[in-house]
Amino acid sequence: MNVTDQQKRYTLDFGTGWAYDPAPESTDHISLKKKYGHFINGKFVEPAEGNYFETINPATEEKLADIAVGSKADVDAAVKAARKAYDKVWSKMPASERGRYIYRIARMIQERAREFAVIESMDGGKPIRESRDVDVPLAAAHFFYYAGWADKLNYAFPGRTPAPLGVAGQIIPWNFPLLMAAWKIAPALATGNTVVLKPAETTPLTCLKLAEIMQEAGLPDGVVNFVTGAGDTGAAIVNHQDINKIAFTGSTAVGKLIQRSIAGSGKKLTLELGGKAANIIFEDAPLDQAVEGIVNGIFFNQGHVCCAGSRLFVQEGVADAVHQKLTDRLETLIVGDPLDKNTDIGAINSKEQLDRINSYIEIGLNEGAAITQSSCSIPSKGYFCRPTLLQNVSQASRVVQEEIFGPVLTIQTFRTPDEVLEKANNTPYGLSGGVWTDKGSKIFRMTSGIDAGVLWANTFNKFDPTSPFGGYKESGMGREGGLHGLLPYLKI
Ligand code: NAI
Ligand code: MG
Repeated sequence: MNVTDQQKRYTLDFGTGWAYDPAPESTDHISLKKKYGHFINGKFVEPAEGNYFETINPATEEKLADIAVGSKADVDAAVKAARKAYDKVWSKMPASERGRYIYRIARMIQERAREFAVIESMDGGKPIRESRDVDVPLAAAHFFYYAGWADKLNYAFPGRTPAPLGVAGQIIPWNFPLLMAAWKIAPALATGNTVVLKPAETTPLTCLKLAEIMQEAGLPDGVVNFVTGAGDTGAAIVNHQDINKIAFTGSTAVGKLIQRSIAGSGKKLTLELGGKAANIIFEDAPLDQAVEGIVNGIFFNQGHVCCAGSRLFVQEGVADAVHQKLTDRLETLIVGDPLDKNTDIGAINSKEQLDRINSYIEIGLNEGAAITQSSCSIPSKGYFCRPTLLQNVSQASRVVQEEIFGPVLTIQTFRTPDEVLEKANNTPYGLSGGVWTDKGSKIFRMTSGIDAGVLWANTFNKFDPTSPFGGYKESGMGREGGLHGLLPYLKI
């Protein structure tokens, strides 16, 4: 019998007891082209300068496809197509008809959900369970939700006259490629804008698949355009004269750069940047449930989540118990093949990101942190990181202050609610947070005291298209999702 790496890992993980058999999702049903151009004016086109880069599968380091490098000329062609579609078609169309296109896109994503989930996991490294159960259904849900608003904008803002802005330039990261595209495109279209979007350079494939859906849905040419490439391509979108609005999700450093470069240009801006969420466990919390919430908050999805619960605060009386439960749970997490349905922690998105995570673990150790890592084996090929706990850290530690964006959790203790509030807010970020307690009054106290845009009580990382999402301080500005998510795309 041919014993695969993954089988060996399960046997190791579960010792002499029973083990899961590998359950890999098949890839037979997906079709990828060898080479992708930009999607401009309803068609796939060759890049003006003829250059391509590779997107790889970070779990195998194998090439998946060649992807066009977007130059200023490509961005310009995309903006021209978007402007023409805006002036001639999209802004003139009855709102209910725009809504019908968006509904159609939502339904087509659902129909092709399996294909999208597999490609998302192959291109970005996230476990199939996440892409299948979270990313793809939520992407469809966002299109459904905003389709409903298209012809009801006057009811969203009673007594006002909402009008679209024009062409939206959108730049998204690699942690939720399809979902971020949906978050950006759905409200832009529902409000009557047209779009030029750039996916991240490591994860362009589901956007390019979404382009196929735009074609099949009969969306008028130029309403949605995709230009692929890295930072230079993003900068060409940001600096293009004929764009009315920029929406960016990514690192705080690039967000600040964008803010500076469009200052005074009249472009509207929303930024969704990093985070360093506090996850707070009180003594009266249901501990087993809280441990699952901690694991879901930082380890699933490799910690590649801007709202990840990356700083754990445990009340002293239960600190040892929580640490023990967490350490035990860590041992059962399966790290490996993203396409295996049993996998909890897939591949780190890129070599650069893995290096960054490892350098933070190193920094933590140099700062005196005590480290607990699961003892599982990891595949020899691809970019993988064991789930990691860092204790003996202080508020001043870099690993407590800076975003790591990997499966690394810092653990601190506290005695009183005041103390933990002060610690939780002692960060440049303000995106999200969580609190675990049996007492409703503590939930209210904490959630009104934490400076963050998104707060969860006795749960973590739950999303819904009807809920606004966004941050304070260095986590960004503006909201996506819900009724609030319409505003950045409208003049009122
Ligand atoms: P990044 O901010 O460089 O990339 C995000 C997107 O911005 C990509 O599409 C990229 O091509 C584009 N971009 C890069 N430079 C640009 C520029 N000058 N103008 C316009 N667009 C530009 O993030 P990166 O380097 O991939 O990750 C670095 C760190 O950022 C991560 O370790 C993590 O801490 C954080 N991050 C946060 C995310 C979030 O969801 N808030 C998502 C991705 C990364
Ligand atoms: Mg890739």
